[in-house]
Amino acid sequence: MTLETDLLTLAREIALEAGELALRRRTEGVAIAASKSSIADIVTEADREVEDLIRRRLTAERPEDGFLGEESGEADGTSGVTWVVDPIDGTVNYAYGMPTYAVSIAAVEGGDALESWTALAGVVHAPALRETFTASRGGGAHLGSQRLAVTNSTPAGALLASGFGYDPSTHEGDLLNVAKVMPMARDLRRGGAASLDLAFVAAGRLDGYFERGLKPWDYAAGALAVAEAGGEVVRSLLDTSRPMIVAGSSVVAREIHARLAR
Ligand code: IPD
Ligand code: CA
Repeated sequence: MTLETDLLTLAREIALEAGELALRRRTEGVAIAASKSSIADIVTEADREVEDLIRRRLTAERPEDGFLGEESGEADGTSGVTWVVDPIDGTVNYAYGMPTYAVSIAAVEGGDALESWTALAGVVHAPALRETFTASRGGGAHLGSQRLAVTNSTPAGALLASGFGYDPSTHEGDLLNVAKVMPMARDLRRGGAASLDLAFVAAGRLDGYFERGLKPWDYAAGALAVAEAGGEVVRSLLDTSRPMIVAGSSVVAREIHARLAR
């Protein structure tokens, strides 16, 4: 067993437990606990409870590791490994009863953003879809036992996805970016969970994805899945205050990026 496979086994086990808790709470009914950065940026009691479960389990199993979670913040570790966690990615979908939400857990080494860390293992688990995407450095990306690969040719144009920030003042810029990229698209999806958008790129269900202003916990696990499925993920500072993540096969990712840069 390598460090990567150990971390992946643990991440997967905890993500499945966390997903069961999220599903159970969803069945019981979801209450909005608070708004965060804007009125649209919500957190439910379930987000907090699920992150607590994940953090407690990780601390019990690997007390020397660091932690960076959306709901409970950051703690330094001494092992060099940091867990980057979104307990429920796609909280608005979750609150509305849509099945497209996921528990996202990644183990990284190094810094706290894509270009400075090395991702070692990642899991994107969508309990309501009963799908678990996994990836480990050098070990490929999988959906269950099926090995994943990004798409290569898109003769009819690329099936793309994007997302919009919660702050209404950013919507105009997001829509401008969509307009720049649309000429290369056969169609555009807005799934509402960045981790799943990335996992779907890894699985070839989408040809490409781009979004401004994501946080590390939104993309840590999904970006590793794309890279391990043979794709490319670029975090680019086209807009310094809201970095852009672009993902796809290298051909698609580069074309999206070139269009955004115009
Ligand atoms: C959000 C989702 C959404 C994306 C937002 C994220 P959250 O995460 O991934 O698809 O457009 O930028 O903040 O708040 O549901 O964990
Ligand atoms: Ca979240």
